[in-house]
Amino acid sequence: MNVDGVPYRSIWLNDNRISIDVIDQTRLPHEFQIRNLTTLGDACVAISDMVVRGAPLIGATAAYGFYLAMLQDASDTAMDAAYDSLYAARPTAVNLRWALDRTRTGLESLTPDERAACALATAREIAELDVDINRQIGRHGLRLISDIAARKAPGEAVNILTHCNAGWLATVDWGTATAPIYMAFDSGIPVHVWVDETRPRNQGASLTAWELGHHGVPHSLIADNTGGHLMQHGQVDLCLVGSDRTTRSGDVCNKIGTYLKALAAKDNALPFYVCLPSSTIDWSIRDGLNQVPIEQRDGSEVSQVTGRLPDGRIESVSIVPPGTRVANYAFDVTPARLVTGLITERGIVAASESALARAFPEESTGPAA
Ligand code: MRU
Repeated sequence: MNVDGVPYRSIWLNDNRISIDVIDQTRLPHEFQIRNLTTLGDACVAISDMVVRGAPLIGATAAYGFYLAMLQDASDTAMDAAYDSLYAARPTAVNLRWALDRTRTGLESLTPDERAACALATAREIAELDVDINRQIGRHGLRLISDIAARKAPGEAVNILTHCNAGWLATVDWGTATAPIYMAFDSGIPVHVWVDETRPRNQGASLTAWELGHHGVPHSLIADNTGGHLMQHGQVDLCLVGSDRTTRSGDVCNKIGTYLKALAAKDNALPFYVCLPSSTIDWSIRDGLNQVPIEQRDGSEVSQVTGRLPDGRIESVSIVPPGTRVANYAFDVTPARLVTGLITERGIVAASESALARAFPEESTGPAA
């Protein structure tokens, strides 16, 4: 998508072909900085410190990180070490495992000399696939937005609520939840987005608002607790969120707070859709509540806020009494019964095991735990 008229992706191979460039998401919205990753360690830190984040982008970064590792050492031992350290970088997003499995499977039968080139080809393939899949998600989701727009008075905006950042910064391009929004906006449908700020790390405030603003999409930032009130007063037509891991039965793990929005949507009979590439489906599990590992992050993300001071410096300040104990759960699970539908690259699918199996027959045959 565009940043001040210049098309960008969130990750790309540097011209030197031996390093990777990413947009440093820890600096946004205050500074647009490109971070260069040259080693496996750089890729692991970029994922764990959320320089890059969002399930699909984590997967793509892991694949490029594998390539960087193979440039240094392409032995069997190095391959295992690269897999393990990238896999440990963030526990919840299943695209990470998907990308690593895909890369390692392709390399195993090759000689060490051939591995770096193959890892690079796989990383590029994963990145291109992500862009294409998000485009498909956008096309399917656009139908929902057009249908709502058709029931409104001419010129009246379709109000869409979104949580966290499931935008192009969370993917390689387009985003998952934002792809239908960008397509609707680009095709002239009036849209307005309610952007949940998404504490503790404020991905909505700092990333979604930044993205939408740079593309020109009308939006309003809201505190996380506001969505229910807006729904009660007819100011939300549709909720679109992303997913970090979806079970084979359609339970959706996503950024903490997603579940509360789904509950509020159900109570107000509003459509609550989850946009996801099929690489986000974990076919090995059924029960989201008990089988998805929920990442717990450092308490400072909750006890401090970071922002820009009037003199331009970016600083973090504490907002709690000294010594306050903090619990920082990064994700929650929305049970399938609260999900109106899953918008995938193969169309809009009911959040159920049978509907997912029909849409992805080649994936659904493996065993579930
Ligand atoms: O912790 P993050 O910022 O990596 O979490 C990302 C999310 O949960 C997003 O909401 C997104 O929906 C998943 S990725 C498209």
